[in-house]
Amino acid sequence: MELLIRANAKLNITLDVVGKLPDGYHDMKMVMESVALCDDITIRIGEGHGVTVRSDLSYLPTDKRNIALRAAELFMQETGLKKSIHLNIVKRIPVCAGMAGGSTDAAAVLRGLNRLFRTGLSRLELERMGECLGSDVPYCIAGGTALAEGRGERLTPLKQLPICHVVVCKPGFSVSTPALFSKLDCDRIRHRPDTQGVMDALEQGDLAGVARRMYNVFESVLTRGRDEVEAIKATLLDHGALGAAMSGTAPPYSAFMTTENPRRQPPQVSEDPTRTCF
Ligand code: C5P
Repeated sequence: MELLIRANAKLNITLDVVGKLPDGYHDMKMVMESVALCDDITIRIGEGHGVTVRSDLSYLPTDKRNIALRAAELFMQETGLKKSIHLNIVKRIPVCAGMAGGSTDAAAVLRGLNRLFRTGLSRLELERMGECLGSDVPYCIAGGTALAEGRGERLTPLKQLPICHVVVCKPGFSVSTPALFSKLDCDRIRHRPDTQGVMDALEQGDLAGVARRMYNVFESVLTRGRDEVEAIKATLLDHGALGAAMSGTAPPYSAFMTTENPRRQPPQVSEDPTRTCF
C-alpha cells in the first residue's frame, strides 16, 4: 500500500508571546497561514515492523532526529498496528526557515497513515497526537488560516486570506528557537502585533489591511544578522510588498505581494548565494 501526500508550509502573519505557561513553554497568539510551497511524502506500508526514511535532501536526518519518522512511530504505537513503514520525502520547504518544514511533514504522516490504515481518527485526535511531537504540528494538521494560541495547539479557524503571491527570503544563517525564546521578556515587549486588527481585516477580505499589520515579536530580539534581515525587509517593501515579517522563530522574512500583476517578477534580493529566495 502506498500514498503520496502533500505537506504544505506555513507562515506566520503575526506572532505574539503573551506570557509563560506553567510547563515552561510560552503562551502564544499567532495568526497562521498555509502556503502552496510543499514537501511531497510517499508513505509505503509493508510487512514487518519499523520505520525508515529517505529524502532527496542529503543532510536531512533519517534517524530519530527526523520528526516525520517519530510521527510514524507514534502513530503505530498509539494505534497498536504492526507493519513496516517507509517514508520518501521530497523536500522543497527550506529547513530552519520558520515555515514548519519538519512539523508539516509530521502532520502529513499522521494524516496519511490515518487514511492508509482507515483508522478513522478525527482531526482533533490527530491534533492531540501531533501535540506530543511539536507545538506547530496541531496547526499543520488543520492547515488554512487560523489563530493558534497556548503552546500553539488551541486553534480557531479564520476566514481565508485572499489569494496572493508570497515571497520568502532566507538569509544565510539560522537562529536557535530556545535561544530566541530565552531572550524574550514577555512583560517588556513594547511592540506587539495587532492580532485583532488582522482578524478583522481577514473578515473583510482586506489583503492590504492584513499585510500592513504583519509583525512578529521576535523581530525585536534578533541580534545576529539584524542588519541583514532589516535590509531584506526594506528591499521587499521597496519592491511593492504589502507587508513583510519574520515567520516563526527563524530569521527569513516573508512578504505578501498583491495579485494585481501576477506576472511581475519577485524582487531580486538574492544575488548573494548565502541567501535563498522563494
Ligand atoms: O514544541 P517545539 O519542539 O516546536 O518547541 C521548540 C522549543 O521552542 C521548545 O523547547 C521551547 O524552548 C520553545 N517553545 C516555547 N513555547 C512554545 C513553543 C516552543 O517556549 N509555545
